[in-house]
Amino acid sequence: MSEIYYATSTGPVNIATLKYWGKRDEDLNLPTNSSISVTLDQAHLRTLTTASCSSKFETDQLWINGASYPLDGARSKQVMADLRSLREEIENGDSSIPKIAAFPLHIVSENNFPTAAGLASSAAGFAALISAVAKLYKLPTNASELSKIARKGSGSACRSLLGGYVAWEMGDLANGEDSKAVQIADKKHWPDMKAAILVVSDMKKDVPSTSGMQLTVHTSDLFQYRIKEVVPKRFIAMRKAIIEKDFPTFAELTMKDSNSFHSVCLDSYPPIFYLNDTSKRIIKLINLLNQSAGEIIAAYTFDAGPNAVIYYEEKNEKYVLGLLHQFFSHLGGWESSSFNPKDAVIPE
Ligand code: PMV
Repeated sequence: MSEIYYATSTGPVNIATLKYWGKRDEDLNLPTNSSISVTLDQAHLRTLTTASCSSKFETDQLWINGASYPLDGARSKQVMADLRSLREEIENGDSSIPKIAAFPLHIVSENNFPTAAGLASSAAGFAALISAVAKLYKLPTNASELSKIARKGSGSACRSLLGGYVAWEMGDLANGEDSKAVQIADKKHWPDMKAAILVVSDMKKDVPSTSGMQLTVHTSDLFQYRIKEVVPKRFIAMRKAIIEKDFPTFAELTMKDSNSFHSVCLDSYPPIFYLNDTSKRIIKLINLLNQSAGEIIAAYTFDAGPNAVIYYEEKNEKYVLGLLHQFFSHLGGWESSSFNPKDAVIPE
C-alpha cells in the first residue's frame, strides 16, 4: 500500500509599518525598497495548513476553507518547485531517505479570518504552505532561507516566516539571493505592542497589489523620491525605534509611511484610490486622539485597501479602542479583539 506523508503548520498575518510598494524584478518579486512589518498574534489571524504527499495522489491540489483549487498559478508552481528541489538535494545525499519529492502534493488550508477581507491572507497562506511543506520534507528550517522562497509566492509573505518585528532587506543581487526577511526583534522584546483591525470593507481590492505597484513604478514621479530619499532613512529610524521600544517615534513613522504609500498611489496615472471616506475618518480620529493625549499613543496604517490596522501599547487600550469603538462600533473586526467596550475611557 502506498503511504501518505503529512505535516501541519501555521502561517501568521504580518502588517507592514514601512510599506513594500514596487518591484524591480517581477518574476523574482524583488522589491524597489526594504520594508518592515509586525507579525500579528496567531490567535486571531492565521492560516492553518496540512501538506501531504503520496504516490497515489494524481495532481497537486489546494483546498482553502473547503473549496478546491488547482495549484497551477505561476507563483505557486515556482514555490513548489523550489521546495521540491531542496528535498531532492537531501534525497540525493542520503539513499536511506524516502524518495517523496516527485509525489503530488495536497495542501489543505483553513483561515480563521475572512479570506476576502484584504487582510494579507496571501502572506499567511504562503507562509503556512511553505512551513508545512518544509516540515513534511524535513528541510533545515532556517526561516530567512525559507523567506526567499515565500517572497517568490507573494512578496510580503516572506515577512510572515518570522515572528515579532521583521525587516525584508531588499538586497541588490540580480538573482535575489540577498532579498530576504530577517528578525529585528522577537515578540517578547516589546510585549505591550498591540494591533487592532477595523474591517471597513470586505470587498476584494479594486486594483490588485502587483498591477497597482507596477503602475506606480512606471507613472509616479513622487515614487522615485519615496524610494531614494524617504524610505532608506525611514528604515534605519524605524528599526532603531523598535529596538529602543520608542512608541511615539515608531507610531509617527508608521503613519507617515502609510500616508506616503497612499500618496504615490494617488500620484500614479491613472490614480489608484485604496482609502475611502471611512478610512479618512479613522485617520482624523487617531490624529485627534494623539493631540488630546499630548503624545502619540496610537498609529494607523492601511495596506492596498480601506481597512485600518491600529497599533497601540496595551497600557493605552481603553483610550484608543474606547474612542474608536464609540465612532466605529459598526465596523467588523471587534469580534476578534479582546477589548470590552465597558472598559472604554473617552478622553475629554
Ligand atoms: O505582497 P503583496 O504583493 O500582496 O503586496 C503587499 C503590499 C502592501 O501590503 C501594500 C505593503 C506591504 O509591505 O505589505
